[in-house]
Amino acid sequence: MKKTNFKFEYEVYDSIDELNEQDAKLIEKARKVTKLAYAPYSHFHVGAAAILSNGKIITGTNQENASYPVTICAERSLLSAASSLYPNASVQTMAISYHNQVENASSLKPISPCGMCRQSIMEYEVRANSPIRIILSGIDGKIFIINTIKHLLPLSFTSADLK
Ligand code: THU
Repeated sequence: MKKTNFKFEYEVYDSIDELNEQDAKLIEKARKVTKLAYAPYSHFHVGAAAILSNGKIITGTNQENASYPVTICAERSLLSAASSLYPNASVQTMAISYHNQVENASSLKPISPCGMCRQSIMEYEVRANSPIRIILSGIDGKIFIINTIKHLLPLSFTSADLK
């Protein structure tokens, strides 16, 4: 028997002012589009914005459903739109933000994509053979930057396993 481990590093910034112009722009966009989320059940409004290899910026928001599991998260809305509009472009960086509109809730702590979204982001990273940088933040406050979805989904199942 041998033990092995998985370790990863991510960047933590105190505010958007510490970021480069392109990353700051993506976060601002993700924060702005939280207003376009359709979240009448959870009141948890999520926005995502990504820059593609062709320079285009795509956004996505969560779209809920009265049949709760039918809901689609902001990240997967964005990826579906990006792949449908520009199938040959890769996603370079995706920023994710949220505004929790439940009374007295805070929206300052960065949130991380759910398990289903991690699997979906992995699909597009593997397909393009190019890492997707992920920027996490709330509506204000601290920002985390993760350099590849591989760091959020160790021992993942991908197309390579089907061969
Ligand atoms: N949600 C997202 O859109 N992205 C995430 O990363 C976490 C959760 C949505 C799904 C649902 O509409 C609401 O947030 C509450 O779970």
